[in-house]
Amino acid sequence: MFKRFRRLRLNHHLRDLVRETVLTKNDFIYPLFVREGEGIKNEIASMPGVFQMSIDEILKECEALQKLGLYAIILFGIPEVKDSVGSDALSDHGIIAKSIKAIKEKFPDMFVVSDLCFCEFTDHGHCGILDMERETVNNDATLEILAKQALVHARAGVDMIAPSGMMDGMIEALRVALDSNGYENLPIMSYSTKFASAYYGPFRDVAESAPSFGDRRSYQMDSANRREALAESLEDERQGADILMIKPALAYMDIIREVRDATSLPLAVYNVSGEYAMLQAAKKAGVIEYEKVMMETLLGFKRAGADIIISYHAKEAAKLIG
Ligand code: PBG
Ligand code: ZN
Repeated sequence: MFKRFRRLRLNHHLRDLVRETVLTKNDFIYPLFVREGEGIKNEIASMPGVFQMSIDEILKECEALQKLGLYAIILFGIPEVKDSVGSDALSDHGIIAKSIKAIKEKFPDMFVVSDLCFCEFTDHGHCGILDMERETVNNDATLEILAKQALVHARAGVDMIAPSGMMDGMIEALRVALDSNGYENLPIMSYSTKFASAYYGPFRDVAESAPSFGDRRSYQMDSANRREALAESLEDERQGADILMIKPALAYMDIIREVRDATSLPLAVYNVSGEYAMLQAAKKAGVIEYEKVMMETLLGFKRAGADIIISYHAKEAAKLIG
């Protein structure tokens, strides 16, 4: 009998030497939810440790993140007023524009990413402008306002935009808008393969962005489709995306690996709200060793091919990484 594998597992230094995948603090982007007001820090019932915060509280949070060695954040906004076209997202005085300015002014070294979408800003909760029959999102009309939203974020000083609306032609339209307005160096991280997922449930509570009618299946992807998942990401690469993304992460490990093997672009995964909520609920029920399960899950994303992990666990992970 030829014995080989266990020899390398007996000594912990040797295990360290032969380890193939390692999580670092540089792998993470931490999501933050910002709303109008002052001194507001509302915890979300299904997501312990995740808050809606006013800008003053967001600034305190940035300081805490830097102390933990975390420098990358992605911003989501909850506007005071919602309307049919998401006007708050198109204003240089909207909640996200104000937040980007405040953060970059106080913490220039923070790397600020902005989610580019309309579901948090429209009164109907869909990711863009509705068509005449109010049945679905109008693709090309939404591209126009997405370009405006991108320029609002760019003018506010954002470091990278992350369009998440799953409109066709989105990346090309945004690249053209940025380049023709002097923002050639602003990178685009595309939510390139984004599934219509029930795992977004808790997020829609935090972001107050559940659609008021229907669902997102006419623009987000069918979970059943593997070939289409690859085509979606490769199309965004062709249109000029700098970083691709698979979302959600946990139920889509095969897609992460497949896209990783098909592109040389950096790849992000979004470890979404429902994935976080499941682990938190299991922790509360006392049925798992929470920290170990969390680190094993995050390591799994990286092993599957993720370079970047957007996760509500980022702070907890950073503490454990030390
Ligand atoms: C906006 C957006 C969503 C998420 C990120 N950006 C929600 C959605 O598509 O309904 C979900 C993130 C999460 O669940 O943590 N389009
Ligand atoms: Zn959206």
